[in-house]
Amino acid sequence: MGKGLTSSKTWQKLLNHHEHIGSKTIKMLFSADNERAQKFKTEAEGIYFDYSKHRITDETLGLLIELANERGLPKKIEGMFSGERINTTENRAVLHTALRAPESKQILFDGKNIVPEVHQVLDKMAEFSEKIRRGEWLGYTGKPIKNIVNIGIGGSDLGPVMAYEALKFYAHPDLVFRFVSNIDANDFSEAVKDLSADETLFIVSSKTFTTLETMTNARTARDWSLKQLKDVASIASHFVAVSTNEKEVAKFGIDTQNMFGFWDWVGGRYSMDAAIGLSTMIAVGPKNFRKMLAGFHLMDEHFRTAPLNENIPVIMGLLTVWYVNFFGAQTQAVLPYDNYLKRLPAYLQQLTMESNGKYVTIDGEKANYSTSPVYWGEPGTNGQHSFYQLIHQGTHLIPCDFIGFKQSLNSLPLHHNFLIANMIAQGEALAFGKTADEVRAEGIAEELVPHKVFEGNRPSSTFFMDKLSPENLGKIIAMYEHSVFVQGVIWGINSFDQMGVELGKVLAQKVITEIEAVGKNLKHDSSTNALIDYYLNYAK
Ligand code: F6P
Repeated sequence: MGKGLTSSKTWQKLLNHHEHIGSKTIKMLFSADNERAQKFKTEAEGIYFDYSKHRITDETLGLLIELANERGLPKKIEGMFSGERINTTENRAVLHTALRAPESKQILFDGKNIVPEVHQVLDKMAEFSEKIRRGEWLGYTGKPIKNIVNIGIGGSDLGPVMAYEALKFYAHPDLVFRFVSNIDANDFSEAVKDLSADETLFIVSSKTFTTLETMTNARTARDWSLKQLKDVASIASHFVAVSTNEKEVAKFGIDTQNMFGFWDWVGGRYSMDAAIGLSTMIAVGPKNFRKMLAGFHLMDEHFRTAPLNENIPVIMGLLTVWYVNFFGAQTQAVLPYDNYLKRLPAYLQQLTMESNGKYVTIDGEKANYSTSPVYWGEPGTNGQHSFYQLIHQGTHLIPCDFIGFKQSLNSLPLHHNFLIANMIAQGEALAFGKTADEVRAEGIAEELVPHKVFEGNRPSSTFFMDKLSPENLGKIIAMYEHSVFVQGVIWGINSFDQMGVELGKVLAQKVITEIEAVGKNLKHDSSTNALIDYYLNYAK
């Protein structure tokens, strides 16, 4: 699958085309075509996607789409939606799209319609969430639950915390939400230091219910809670679980009645719209949660049905391939111009890099081309006053995604105009820069001219939507999920396993044992041995 990629006819054509387009700047491309902004723009499902400030022409797009067809993208999309076991290394289907399918839909997996089960869990979550939101779910001492602490890591944390921050405007005003992920004692301690156990609910979120960090934090939470409530019977009112592993949930001591399930066809980083979103639903209410799911679903349908050249995630994914494989770009910046989206880059880091950060193709061969770029970012305008210097004048090519909204959720109109003006201006500055002559025309001293020149020709996409609503958040996340899928198909990799996280986990277990036994005769390399020794000496 991977081997053929770089020797394929279309790849060769793209290489030639890249040589040709390399000499054309974005400025030149705009001068040559008055219609460019209209041509390289897609409006769908309430998203205005401007990709005209990219180093592409009609020919580029045509060739990239030819490549997508050559790699069988339309068939692969259908394969995912119809429940084929495309996660071949784990022999699993990849059906996160079923999590947001309306009740009327039928999605067969192993001959069974899975949509009713999805909605049963959603209904159970809704009933529970409403009880908490109305103050009807009482703690062991009879007080209503006021604090909700989600314990999870990776996909069992990043989705919940990102969505909570993104939708804070819609959140229940009297409930307090905390998210504990790190095994570092500081994380748990800070999260609960001002909370009282009799008003606190812990949601232990873990697909496997065996993850070291989560289970350690969950046990600490149980001890912390029992220390105050002094009766194991209190666990039933203060602990619920979200997992696929009923056996381990029961073993931990959580009543499986208080467990919200999901399925092995939902990957951890694709699970924020499954029961892993329980904290989100409690925060914003079942109605808003369902609106978010509807947004995901709209984007799913767009991805499944829109022609490739009008398909937002397809174009996004192909542009990433274009820059990574033909321009040597190593990173991709995501720059939301909405402070509520401050955790979006962190969320996308797991989604993109745990999915496509692989050098082995689906056939087990070593890829002879680059795969996932490093995704990173911060909200604008904060980033402008720190790392944008490098994006504008640094030596790396960094394609940027700008994400903005027409309306602000909080009405301070002046702020919003300033915010959006900055976002638009950044795209313009990156693309068109400032020439030496323009700098000189400002009367700048000659020796400063080179420092004040902006080469421009730096690509960006701009995504504009009306406002940050639950629906629009769903669309944004689904859009990136599917862009990741497109990239994985082109690169011929399995985007749905994460074998690369295993070795560190295994070695950590070994080191834990050695540290706890105050290890002697360590048999690691000399550096690792010395580090363990240093820690043990310090701990003494
Ligand atoms: O170690 C990586 C990982 O498996 C992620 O893929 C996952 O989201 C995270 O750990 C947490 O896993 P779990 O939900 O099973 O605790």
